[in-house]
Amino acid sequence: EDFSPTDLVSVSPYGNVKLSRNAAEAFIELCKQAKEDGYTIIGISGYRSYQTQKNLYNRYLQKDPQKVVDTYSAKAGHSEHQTGLAIDVSSNNPDMLTFEMSSSFIWMKENAHQFGYILRYLKGKEDITGYKYEPWHYRFVGKEIATLLHQTGMTYDEYVAINLEN
Ligand code: DAL
Ligand code: ZN
Repeated sequence: EDFSPTDLVSVSPYGNVKLSRNAAEAFIELCKQAKEDGYTIIGISGYRSYQTQKNLYNRYLQKDPQKVVDTYSAKAGHSEHQTGLAIDVSSNNPDMLTFEMSSSFIWMKENAHQFGYILRYLKGKEDITGYKYEPWHYRFVGKEIATLLHQTGMTYDEYVAINLEN
């Protein structure tokens, strides 16, 4: 409940959000490369405190039953946004729901792993990740793991489970 990363920094000018330092530096590099290649990537939600997540979850509860909310929002204390290692992105459009239609999404699919980022909640893997497909949500795991997951199509959940077993 009282956890927050001690090294939060802004990803400015690529969004008005904060991430843990390594994740922020990698995100800025990613955005610079995208820009060089002709695409726009900006962060629209990064670190979220326990309280922010709680407010968000409660707001969703006003429009959807809990069973539905639990498919797309983490409860407070359960969101990886609280780690400072996850970021929701968009192209020029501030609405993340349209991100999947943009060419920036294709760029992310092909290149995010080179900067240590993975698409976290995969299509068709909802029963493993526990959440609906989120084309806008990326998680910093470092280049090595990101590349492995990119090549195999494995979810981060499976990767963690295998490595816990070993
Ligand atoms: N939307 C993701 C699952 C979160 O709330 O952390
Ligand atoms: Zn997210």
